[in-house]
Amino acid sequence: MSSDLDQNPNLNEKTEEKGHFSPGIGDEIEQTEDLSLDQTLRPSKFDNYIGQSNIKDNLHILLTAAKERNHPPEHILFYGPPGLGKTTLAHLIAKETGVQMKVTSGPAIERVGDLASVLTNLSPGDILFIDEIHRLNKTVEEVLYPAMESGQIDIIIGKGPSARSIQLDLPPFTLIAATTRIAMVSSPLRSRFSGGVFKLEFYTDEEIEQIVKNSSKILKVEAENDALVEISKRSRSTPRTANYLLKRCRDYAQINRTDLTKEAVQKALELIGIDSKGLTHSDRIILRTLIDKYNGGPVGLNTIAASLSEDQATIEEFNEPYLIQLGFIERTPRGRVVTDIGYKHLDEKLKDL
Ligand SMILES: Nc1ncnc2c1ncn2[C@@H]1O[C@H](COP(=O)(O)OP(=O)(O)OP(=O)(O)O)[C@@H](O)[C@H]1O
Ligand SMILES: [Mg+2]
Repeated sequence: MSSDLDQNPNLNEKTEEKGHFSPGIGDEIEQTEDLSLDQTLRPSKFDNYIGQSNIKDNLHILLTAAKERNHPPEHILFYGPPGLGKTTLAHLIAKETGVQMKVTSGPAIERVGDLASVLTNLSPGDILFIDEIHRLNKTVEEVLYPAMESGQIDIIIGKGPSARSIQLDLPPFTLIAATTRIAMVSSPLRSRFSGGVFKLEFYTDEEIEQIVKNSSKILKVEAENDALVEISKRSRSTPRTANYLLKRCRDYAQINRTDLTKEAVQKALELIGIDSKGLTHSDRIILRTLIDKYNGGPVGLNTIAASLSEDQATIEEFNEPYLIQLGFIERTPRGRVVTDIGYKHLDEKLKDL
């Protein structure tokens, strides 16, 4: 049975505390993350936010300088694959600066009026967090430009001959935005994030190990060191996945009345289709399709998506970045190509079957 539990974000119904994952290719089980646990695991101090040291250093300068000038920090954009800690950073900035953060998302702001109401309801110094900023529509985006640049919005009141434009002054605020798809953020919008545009990187093995260990303490999970290391290795270099796998292994050990050993981790994760490198069932199908149908590539992403009947965005945001990070596929001008180590990994998997 392929009961792979891919953690593909539900791209259409993404919420801020996303605990709900839609299944990927070949997945049979839909799952609901335990939201309160996810909240507990989210670092509440910069000190507990592991890794991304370059971003943290830059934010420290930005926030301290703004504080000294007694002015809200300038607008910030975070981008990178799902689960790397973008939303967490926004919360930490709000906490560090001691201000209120209002949360919305690109798809939630459908009309100019929605944006105007969000902006005019801000209090001086507030942070406005817009998740999935790449999904803002063009008309709304254009109203955001003057708001970000000069703290004003122009809105049109009424219709037809009696329509008139009025200009509203906004309180000083900081926009923090996040996206998994930076290429879809227009360059005029990007350039207005004067505080910085920051790319979140995949975590190193040591960092992920640290995150798994911290989370096991918070969740009071008793596990052997080797077991935690094994979970880290299969975590796609991603904190959200690390926490998710830890919880699944804890459940497995509890139900099977066993200690959380390395062996228990291997069994628990095999059961949900996560292999030794952290690849999910859908990652492996992508590799297999590239190899079997297209001789290893090059193939365009749209062709891959079509032949798998999968949403292109899911592959682009969730599967591809990790496969590239592992060096299993490469992006070439003519399309995606499976590398030698990509082939080798699948061959090794076949031996296991
Ligand atoms: N640097 C970190 N240190 C420790 N834990 C982290 C870190 N980054 C993220 N996490 C954990 O991973 C979870 C997911 O992070 P977060 O929600 O911030 O990701 P995201 O980048 O906003 O994802 P998405 O693009 O899907 O919205 C957090 O709830 C937190 O528990
Ligand atoms: Mg987020």
